[in-house]
Amino acid sequence: MKRIFSSALFTMLLAFTFSGILNAQDSPRSRESFNDGWKFIKFLNASDESAKADKEPAGLEAPGYNDASWRTLDLPHDWAIEGPFNDTLENNTGLLPWKAIGWYRKHFKVNDSDKGKQFFIDIDGAMAYAKVWLNGKYVGEWPYGYTSFRLDLTPYILVDKENIIAVRLDTKNWDSRWYPGAGIYRNVWLVKTSKIHVAHNGIFVTTPEIKKERAIVSVLAEIESQYENPLAVAVKASVYKLNAKMEPSVSPVSESTGSTALLQGMKTHDFRFDISISDPVLWDINDPQLYRVVVTVLDGSNVLDICETNFGIRSLLFTARDGFYLNGKKVEIKGVCNHHDLGALGSAFNIRAAERQLEILREMGCNAVRTSHNPPAPELLDLCDRMGFLVEDEAFDAWKTPKKRLDYNKLFYAWHTEDIKAMVRRDRNHPSVFIWSTGNEVNDQNNPALSLSLKNIIKSEDNTRPVTVGCNWDESGTNGFQKSVDVFGINYRLYRYDAFFAMAENNNLPFHSSESASTISSRGEYFFPVVEGDLNKNLPGKGIFQISSYDVAYPAWATSPDQQWKMNDKYPGVFGEFVWTGFDYIGEPTPYGGDLTGLRPGTRRYDEAKALLDKQNVTEVPSRSSYFGILDLAGFKKDRFYLYQSKWRPDLPMAHILPHWNWPERKGLVTPVHVYTSGDEAELFLNGKSLGRKIKGQYEYRLRWDDVIYQPGELKVIAYKNGQKWAEDVMRTTGKAAHLSMSADRPAIYADSKDLIFITVRIEDKNRLLVPGSNNQLKFSIEGPGRIVATDNGDATSHESFQSSSKKAYNGMCLVIVAADKGASGTIKVIGESKGLKGESLAISIK
Ligand code: GAL
Repeated sequence: MKRIFSSALFTMLLAFTFSGILNAQDSPRSRESFNDGWKFIKFLNASDESAKADKEPAGLEAPGYNDASWRTLDLPHDWAIEGPFNDTLENNTGLLPWKAIGWYRKHFKVNDSDKGKQFFIDIDGAMAYAKVWLNGKYVGEWPYGYTSFRLDLTPYILVDKENIIAVRLDTKNWDSRWYPGAGIYRNVWLVKTSKIHVAHNGIFVTTPEIKKERAIVSVLAEIESQYENPLAVAVKASVYKLNAKMEPSVSPVSESTGSTALLQGMKTHDFRFDISISDPVLWDINDPQLYRVVVTVLDGSNVLDICETNFGIRSLLFTARDGFYLNGKKVEIKGVCNHHDLGALGSAFNIRAAERQLEILREMGCNAVRTSHNPPAPELLDLCDRMGFLVEDEAFDAWKTPKKRLDYNKLFYAWHTEDIKAMVRRDRNHPSVFIWSTGNEVNDQNNPALSLSLKNIIKSEDNTRPVTVGCNWDESGTNGFQKSVDVFGINYRLYRYDAFFAMAENNNLPFHSSESASTISSRGEYFFPVVEGDLNKNLPGKGIFQISSYDVAYPAWATSPDQQWKMNDKYPGVFGEFVWTGFDYIGEPTPYGGDLTGLRPGTRRYDEAKALLDKQNVTEVPSRSSYFGILDLAGFKKDRFYLYQSKWRPDLPMAHILPHWNWPERKGLVTPVHVYTSGDEAELFLNGKSLGRKIKGQYEYRLRWDDVIYQPGELKVIAYKNGQKWAEDVMRTTGKAAHLSMSADRPAIYADSKDLIFITVRIEDKNRLLVPGSNNQLKFSIEGPGRIVATDNGDATSHESFQSSSKKAYNGMCLVIVAADKGASGTIKVIGESKGLKGESLAISIK
């Protein structure tokens, strides 16, 4: 790179240099997984003097430090998920030991052939307060555990010698309202580039014009130079169409002409290209077509960088009184909020686990996800792009006023600009991302100026999407705060809808329920009598920490799904909702959030929580995960799944009966039956005798037979739509538990150490019916080249380790998560056993 071209000469050369097809392999850029082979240790740093051995010594970053005795592991890693559950820890963060100081070290080499390159470490997420050293030299830090960040290793890296990178994490100084996990819990990458390269997340693709026959794709490429002197480069952008396997078309569907410029030393230079695409195929939730932009940077015929990003061509229109339009078609947002943990896997990100969640949500009719209350793993957005989900990408759960003492308020002043920019720059090319949210229920809803300033930070990096805040103050939609956002989001508070829509000033403000329902239930539990709303009456009584699954129980601030739908249907201006939550998550086991930790005496929440504990006659509760999920922590469907499916997939013929029909102690007693159906009418039969035909009235979303007198046998429902038979469901009294059944989510697995198989285990009677209430102890083992990664039963009160290969079934079900040994071939046999029951085994082939 010694030559400096005159611009004219450079332009002449350009035609020649761009004439051949270049591939990513031709680029000095590489991005290697940096996940494997880390050493790990954690220290509790307890104030207790007796815990001296657990005090963090100084000097752990020193290259000469002997880390041989540390545990060896691969990332992503969550150090807390192994537990054990501990009753003295907070229920709201899952009773797990996530507070500690954690150290990771990795020894690595870079080859002589990489001499002269730039070296970066990209950490997709490290919880929390990450500080990084390379070869004993301090490189940098990033405190917010949910932000993906890059650090420049170049000044300290040794070529052809051993390098030691050390990462210190501190969760002792972090507070959370849910289980945050702990550790380097997302992927880590080693990125190598030449000294002139596309900046970090430095490609921004927008589609300013979309017509049937033509779309304009506008590409901004920020090119960074690490040279002292000015240098001339040529840059161009090419667009490829991707197939379902995410492979690019053989040749570009369109490309820019090359552009030349003299890069100033140590500066970033912006290149802009408008590329016309003929007959664009739009990205849509039903047909999520993706394209790829490849930016090539040349110095003569010398390739300096080839950098790519995927994108989609799609238009968003948010209206104030007529909902949301994607590509000109109205789309109701049928969304769920999710926290980032993946149940028994903890916060350690796994693509297949996230994909499985989306598959289940898709089956329910869900089309959108709110990443509450923080930016997600980047791969989740890749999945949403590929599978056709819309995403509300959220930054924070707190701004400057705390919810908990050590939450984001401690970082707000120093870091919020960096954190917001990092989120937007990383995520702005994902067609799935359709709304940014700067915060959830922040305690600064009296500060529209602050909200506006956060919105403006987003706009400085992306002005193509609206910005919202999930609001929970009664007055936020009417006191002027609402003017600080592009799209108003309200959490619950159905009683504020009338006031919002009545206000003329809000006539141009799109509106959605950024968080809805918060209905609570435990899979397979039913308590009597069935009482709407009132938690005190819905609780089962002393010592049982479950919630009835009639789907009419919710905390004081929340509602049933039905109540939310009434408002969505009443106001066409509501463009949709994000239900709290799709999946149960670790922590926040409301109403058994337990030991009153964090609640102030004299507040409504304290009084409510105390009343619930008093009723149970306890001060401590075993609950360690939520009851809010439509799916339980293991990903098993609760009844509510079918309620949402009935509303969200009106064209799918389906009917679902609850409760189960094994009530020997209820013979002759009133045992209400609810039916969820996408039909509009249904007839219920008990042992062949009709219990009447019922029609859904206006704003009615379930059919109820509230006075059914229990007798064992068969409950059958026949649903109708527009007078025609539409669907049916049967619920039978079962016999005794007889055997296990096992089924896998897929028949085969990749032996790449990342892929997972999720096996559903059921306890069935001799007629293959799931036996309600069965909680037999199960034992699992493997023959062949695989291992059990985790087990779960969806019971929010279980303290059995997630890593254990033995687990009690919960209401007849259990989940086993299996991985293949790296590089293995053949078949893995998973064996399930339980005393007194016939066991079962399942063969999984390795791809
Ligand atoms: C909301 C909050 C969520 C969760 C939920 C439980 O107010 O935004 O994070 O706590 O309540 O109902």
